[in-house]
Amino acid sequence: MYREIKLCRACGAANLFAEVMDLGTQPLANDFRLPGEACNGYAPLKVLYCQGCSLAQLSVVVDPQILYSGYPYVTSRSNTMLGHFALLWQAINIECRPDRILEIGSNDGFFLDYCLQNGAKDVIGIDPAENLAEIANARGLFTIPGIFNDSNADKANRHFNGPDVVVARHVFCHIDDWKKFVVNLDVVCRKNTLVVIEVPYVMDTLERVEFDQIYHEHLSYLSINAMNALLDGTPFQLHRITRFPIHGGSVVIMLRRRDAGVTADASVPKFMAEEQNEIGHKWAHFKDKSFFRINKLRDIVNEKCAQGLVCGYGASAKSTVWINACGFKRKHINFICDETKQKQGRLSPGTDIPVMSEKALHTAEYAVLFAWNFSEEIRRKNADWKGEFLTA
Ligand code: TMP
Ligand code: ZN
Repeated sequence: MYREIKLCRACGAANLFAEVMDLGTQPLANDFRLPGEACNGYAPLKVLYCQGCSLAQLSVVVDPQILYSGYPYVTSRSNTMLGHFALLWQAINIECRPDRILEIGSNDGFFLDYCLQNGAKDVIGIDPAENLAEIANARGLFTIPGIFNDSNADKANRHFNGPDVVVARHVFCHIDDWKKFVVNLDVVCRKNTLVVIEVPYVMDTLERVEFDQIYHEHLSYLSINAMNALLDGTPFQLHRITRFPIHGGSVVIMLRRRDAGVTADASVPKFMAEEQNEIGHKWAHFKDKSFFRINKLRDIVNEKCAQGLVCGYGASAKSTVWINACGFKRKHINFICDETKQKQGRLSPGTDIPVMSEKALHTAEYAVLFAWNFSEEIRRKNADWKGEFLTA
């Protein structure tokens, strides 16, 4: 079901790994199954740090067929997300006129739809979740079902040759073979194509002790230095780096072709120098800080569930990480509220905790805010609820 990694995915080093996090053997974070359905198994959740290029990566790669079959993750239709799209769209428009856009990991087409509504002329998506690609195609957004491999890169090229922008939002760290990814990027990019890669930023993960970003889908915790090591000897170079608050702190890494002859923005050396000063030290303390948070939430929930009904809010992958790290069962967290219809009626992976409609919140006295990345929006939406949100 999984294989152990032997080499650094970015710089190729074989033995520069330090173990910086170990959450034990865990269920797959998005494996929300129906009651009675068998789960897709468990795998180690351990992070190794490359002292050569500063990439942190999981010690194992779970078979993507298992990880992404019937994938329930749908990009949140939240105002927070729309606000982020507006900022990202603005950042792209400063670089070029984005008429033709190719999105890798386009999910159900939410972002591509946004692009079309804001002036893009033609878009293509590629997504491995067939159920989501189908939804996008039904909405008229041309989406190739599958991973970004050479055959799908060719298919994209047949639709339009040389997009103005290639976007990959929160997908790059799900990919195992980065060298092949860059080779296929070379296939789809013309000389002036802008490549926009958005990932959770490892420095935010570290500074805010967001250990709940660590799950089997997130194979890597990407630094700019690691990205630079990956691009060494390829046709692409770092072009501009920008931080955004979405998903607990993300970074947009823009790339351009070396032969486009564009000078990299000052943000590139700035981010690289800042990371070099801090990242090793921060990873060295990350595990202890994470377990402090885990123990704290366990104490809070144990105390509150003696006083009233405790539920969770947001059946995200993050919730699975928290729940299994804390060892919560239904007697601690009675249910998780989530607006996503596809998740309702299913069970939180590794537990007997059911996902229920957001309306169920009103039956609880306390709610652990697992979707803390949408905290403001969720608190506003539920201002009339008399209970108390809990966080660690
Ligand atoms: P994500 O952080 O992986 O996008 O997951 C957030 C989850 O929270 C997702 O399952 C949708 C859910 N959610 C709600 O139920 N209500 C809301 O208002 C928001 C913003 C998210
Ligand atoms: Zn490395």
